[in-house]
Amino acid sequence: MLRVGVLVSGGGTNLQAIIDAVNTGMITNTSIEIVISNNPNAYALTRAKKNNIDNLCISPKTFEKREDFNKALIKKLDEYQLDLIVLAGCMVVLPAELIDKYENRIINIHPALIPSFCGTGYYGLHVHEEVLKRGVKLTGATVHFVDAGTDTGPIIMQKAVEVKWGDTPEILQRRVMEEAEWKIMPEAINLIANGKVQVIDGKVKIQE
Ligand code: GRF
Repeated sequence: MLRVGVLVSGGGTNLQAIIDAVNTGMITNTSIEIVISNNPNAYALTRAKKNNIDNLCISPKTFEKREDFNKALIKKLDEYQLDLIVLAGCMVVLPAELIDKYENRIINIHPALIPSFCGTGYYGLHVHEEVLKRGVKLTGATVHFVDAGTDTGPIIMQKAVEVKWGDTPEILQRRVMEEAEWKIMPEAINLIANGKVQVIDGKVKIQE
């Protein structure tokens, strides 16, 4: 059984997609053990509650020093003996120590086709604004392992989504979520849970 912890900050639609996929059996061999949010008002926490998943808020704002927040977060994650940490709309910069400790055991979803429209400053709606500004015809989403850089870790899955004339950042964001994010995140977790994902020289090999 893959023991999964999910880190969130907001609405939690990606979390919901994962919960639904576990419940319907699309994801197998997986249990969601804990959901942690840095934001006490994140609707994602309510989604966890509704599904009887342990949940809590650990906010950097409630600690005097960042170091103390880092320690509290790592301690809590360690407590749950997780095999995989999933960043599902997590807006917190993770402690370097956590990334080190959980090498190739943390995954993130980015709402664009890496290496385009990613890196520092590319988060949330801003990604889609830049996509529209440049006028690309395809965008999409990427699930990748998290390393020390921003959006630089090994890529696990990508799915392209059409950009349409007249799109607003909000409309495009929604289409990227519906057509890509909510699909490839559960798929990636299922592949990991079933031992199909291998990292070789910084690249991911998926066993057919
Ligand atoms: C998604 O667009 C995700 O790609 C980005 O933040 C958003 C999270 O949405 N990192 P939600 O909280 O899962 O609804």
